[in-house]
Amino acid sequence: MLLLLCLLSPLVANVRAETGHEAWRRYFRLAPKIGQKYANVPIDIVSVGDTVILAASRKELIVGLAGLLGSAPRKSANPIDRSIVLGKAADLQSKFPKLSVGAISDEGYRLKWQRIGEKACLVIAGGGDRGVLYGVFALLSKIARGEDISALNEVQNPAAEIRWVDQWDNLDGSIERGYAGSSIYFYGGRVRDDLTRASEYARLLASIGINGCNINNVNANPRVLQSDFLPQIARIADEFRHWGVHLSLSVDLSSPTTIGGLDTFDPVDPRVAAWWNSKADEIYTLIPDFGGFTVKADSEGRVGPSSYGRTPADAANVLARALAPHGGVVFYRAFVYDHHLDWRDPKSDRARAAYDIFHPLDGKFDDNVIIQIKHGPIDFQAREPVSPLFSGMEKTSEAIELQITQEYTGQQRHLVYLAPMWKEVLDFDMNGAEQKPRIAAKAPRAPGEEEKQEDSSWFVRTLLAGRIFHRPTGGYVAVVNAGMDENWLAHPFAMANLYAYGRLAWDSNLGARQIAEEWTRLTFGNDSVVVRTATEIAMNSWRTYEKYTGFLGTQTLTDITGSHYGPNIESSEENGWGQWHRADHEGIGMDRSVKTGTGFAGQYQPAVANMYESAATTPDELLLFFHHVPYTHVLHSGKTVSQYVYDSHYEGANEVKGFVREWKGLKERIDHERYDDVLARLEYQAGHAIVWRDAVCSYFLRLSGIADAKGRAGNFPNRIEAEGMTLTDYDVVEVAPRENASDGKAIRCLVPAGCSATFRFGARETGQAQAGLPHSKRYEIDVQYFDQNNGVSRFRVFVNGRKVDEWAADDHLPAKKIGGDTSTRRRIHGVALRPDDEIRVEGIPDEGEVAGLDYLEILAETTDR
Ligand code: GCU
Repeated sequence: MLLLLCLLSPLVANVRAETGHEAWRRYFRLAPKIGQKYANVPIDIVSVGDTVILAASRKELIVGLAGLLGSAPRKSANPIDRSIVLGKAADLQSKFPKLSVGAISDEGYRLKWQRIGEKACLVIAGGGDRGVLYGVFALLSKIARGEDISALNEVQNPAAEIRWVDQWDNLDGSIERGYAGSSIYFYGGRVRDDLTRASEYARLLASIGINGCNINNVNANPRVLQSDFLPQIARIADEFRHWGVHLSLSVDLSSPTTIGGLDTFDPVDPRVAAWWNSKADEIYTLIPDFGGFTVKADSEGRVGPSSYGRTPADAANVLARALAPHGGVVFYRAFVYDHHLDWRDPKSDRARAAYDIFHPLDGKFDDNVIIQIKHGPIDFQAREPVSPLFSGMEKTSEAIELQITQEYTGQQRHLVYLAPMWKEVLDFDMNGAEQKPRIAAKAPRAPGEEEKQEDSSWFVRTLLAGRIFHRPTGGYVAVVNAGMDENWLAHPFAMANLYAYGRLAWDSNLGARQIAEEWTRLTFGNDSVVVRTATEIAMNSWRTYEKYTGFLGTQTLTDITGSHYGPNIESSEENGWGQWHRADHEGIGMDRSVKTGTGFAGQYQPAVANMYESAATTPDELLLFFHHVPYTHVLHSGKTVSQYVYDSHYEGANEVKGFVREWKGLKERIDHERYDDVLARLEYQAGHAIVWRDAVCSYFLRLSGIADAKGRAGNFPNRIEAEGMTLTDYDVVEVAPRENASDGKAIRCLVPAGCSATFRFGARETGQAQAGLPHSKRYEIDVQYFDQNNGVSRFRVFVNGRKVDEWAADDHLPAKKIGGDTSTRRRIHGVALRPDDEIRVEGIPDEGEVAGLDYLEILAETTDR
């Protein structure tokens, strides 16, 4: 029986269902060709020291090696023949005095072959416990990716001390901007009984070097700090501890009144300070390795120190002083702004807020306060300049806030790999050295100038590490919405963002492509075609997304007061939220120059400020963030703004179509589950990119009155508008905003038994130009319909009374009404059609969902679409 199991086991391993749950730690048996490279990897494990983290490290090593190499590692007290020896550097050196591992930082590690006595051992030495754990994960990652380890001798120290994630989980189990299921921590107002997922998540975080996690929404519920709730929180911390992940909490500054019974939360009131002190003591009694507090205050309706005329420094310091004796830190978010701005005032500008508020306070924050700064001055848009605040505080520790949650970047329905964007931010030189060549492209450099520029570089990544201004701490925070979905983040490729974030926080010099390749190998295996294709798709995806959602620095042209998902160009205008792009008939863009605009450009260091001050030196991709220009303005690329709008949107939508084609080339090269999942998502994205393309192009066509030189915008020869069909019980509705439906109209069914829309293929009465379609061939029919989330309508399509397709509108798109969020498409392949054939679409509504239909598009099957 045992023999049979052994014989079967490789086979069993290969058919293991892939849910994505294991993420990049699959530990699948390596293909024999790769596996044989590791024939001399010891299977004997000598582990020195005994802490919970070291125990987890040892266990991970055993599980990982067993999975990857198929060997069953053994634990030994002393090196036998060849062993893997792991432990903290100091412990290893006292046990094996001849061992030399060199200097390693507390969370760093060294991986090295070294003789111990007569034995050739593979040593995993960590500066501290976490270092050992990270070393184990690094070794396993190298083996899983087939990297040569025969001469391994590598030391790795993290780029920054702070490498955290923020979850925005609510106590009722929902997640703010959650797109991957409910909270892994909370349910129904309390901490879940079963915290298996929390523990697995901590393991996932540790595997990429993340050492802290703030578990609750920054829009914090004061209840988290109540004495009867804290023991529940402590249970989560108990799970995290094994993986070296500090737990921290978002706190509401009004807690001393809301749960503390005081009549004030004024941060300079001694009673308030005493309250926070005793709360911190209470927390540390339960959670000795508690990380600290995150604060969102005076922002988007949250109360803050301004209630008492106090500053963010007053608020941050009262918390910092409570945490300091225990080693905790305060993350005070710089996301403080007024969302009731006067849009009529050409000088008002939300982008200025963080710098205006925090720069004057530089030097007033305690050492254990870290100002957490969103990477751009607005809010995680498809494209923003780097926040000027990074170079605006020389005496204050800083952390960058990135967003893995794809709030404005496709909500984990669109494939958008964000590392290339983050790299641009991290590699941005706040002192201008990097940008100078662009500004003075024509001015020859003085001899020796290059060297000087390099010396004076203030790359964001160097500032974050605290190295420029010699700050005690700093680093990285990213918002994540990992949920109960089996694969954590819904879209399999969304996990590339979590992976990339961890890798960059560890080593900000890594390249986005290298990280994408690593992730692909670990996630989908080492097949070179898969690695090449998935990496290529990932690397292009952010710029592709930008092309169809937010051109030339307008930010994401989405519904900013609603879902943040589909197109809604005007939602940014004429309200207090300050995400204006100020488009009118003549031109578009915010003038943020010092000379004639809001002055935002002047918040940067001089070289960068000069670059942004003039449209001539502002890079095209940020032109409209800094300048208002006519649609006829000619970009550096040589195109006019209006033609760029059309071209980029058509390019973007075509590129997604290309992703679908490329992904299809991977069929049979990866497991069916994830192949099908990604394919379905890409096909949806290809359809939604067209919705975006058409909305933005038709909006600016109407507004500017300037035609697309290539004749595409507003011209859809193969489209049959639903409102032009013969309707039975369906009625025509105007869609708002009108650009979110083809021709501004759609049809809806309010009759419970169902409605139908009919037309004759090629018939003149449809009013559509289908001339030129070859007759009696097979066609693809795209049905553009609306899938609301308040019901499950059903659709059926008939040709001459014969049913060719039916489906349920059961996706979970983020809206209850017909519009850009819900517009989606069904593609029916291989339909034989002749002129005059009758095509009928039947829609059966359900609850609030009205079986809405926008148009059909019919193209010959052979056409590359
Ligand atoms: C965005 C987001 C909010 C979030 C806020 C924040 O505005 O839409 O949901 O609360 O950022 O970062 O605090």
